[in-house]
Amino acid sequence: MTPEELQARCEEVRKEWAEASTSAHDPAAVEALRVSFLGRKGSVTAVFDALRTLPPEARAGAGKLLNALKGEITSALEGLQAEVEREAVGSRLAAERHDFTLPGKWRPLGRLHPLTQVRREIEDIFMKLGFDVASGPEMETDYYNFEALAIPADHPARDDWDSFYIEEGRLLRTHTSPVQIRVMKSQPPPVRIVCPGRCYRRDNPDATHSPVFHQIELLWVEKGLTMAHLKWILGEFVRAFFGPGYEMRISADFFPFTEPSAQVHIRRQGQARATHHAGGWLEIMGAGMVAPAVLTEVGYNPEEVTGFAFGLGVERMAMLRWGVEDIRLFFQNDVRFLSQF
Ligand code: DAH
Repeated sequence: MTPEELQARCEEVRKEWAEASTSAHDPAAVEALRVSFLGRKGSVTAVFDALRTLPPEARAGAGKLLNALKGEITSALEGLQAEVEREAVGSRLAAERHDFTLPGKWRPLGRLHPLTQVRREIEDIFMKLGFDVASGPEMETDYYNFEALAIPADHPARDDWDSFYIEEGRLLRTHTSPVQIRVMKSQPPPVRIVCPGRCYRRDNPDATHSPVFHQIELLWVEKGLTMAHLKWILGEFVRAFFGPGYEMRISADFFPFTEPSAQVHIRRQGQARATHHAGGWLEIMGAGMVAPAVLTEVGYNPEEVTGFAFGLGVERMAMLRWGVEDIRLFFQNDVRFLSQF
């Protein structure tokens, strides 16, 4: 090759570059460009190889030309590389852009069943007063559910508790009172317990009856307890659960396992009497002093210790608190109802 030919070749390569470089718009195309000009078999490299064919005295000048060409293309390539990379990053960011103004995904949160809320709250009230929480089986024997509570087989009071019998001598407990017997039989006095639990009765479901419902039983047995202590505990409970705006009334009742027996009513203070059934009084529980026969049955000495007990309906408490008028709503698992509490 002559020096002139080499110079012409340089010009050609420069033109080829000028043309080819305009069409490289992504990193792969730029890389292909680099290979085809500066790679081992690239056109610039080929001209360098041709340098050897020049007469020695012409090589220095031609080498300068070539180095200038290589420098030009190298720096143009670098510029091109930087540009397509910037573009690639830009378009990736555009594709991944998040629109923070779009509405978020809403996930519904679960919550405690209203009866669970009420049960826990009542447990807390009595735990703060020094009571323990006890429990007993939902399937009971006739002995614990009735006999030991002074309700023998032929006692007319059994009519108050229409029972689901499972087999002779076994039934679903009709109240939480049998837990009183179980606890007293398992330990000496004093006893301070509350027992929450499910109860069952053969009642036809209506707005105020459900064949399954919940009670909380309280029992306090100790030396020297009187009705006055019972009244104090009831007052504490009504104030803690319903708030200060309620008044309480205790009147006589009958339960075979308490003597005397009482029923407890509450009323919102200042509630207009005329507009409410029974003067606005609502029964919230049965209560009484534990009958001596019951204390004797569990091996306690009624001359030494006395006690009182009560049983309240959890659904009744929840209905009063939230103004729910149909007990069946608590058992239908309709989220539209449950999510209001
Ligand atoms: N066990 C009774 C019922 O279910 C309620 C009750 C009344 C419980 C008086 C008591 C009590 O502990 O002393 O109807």
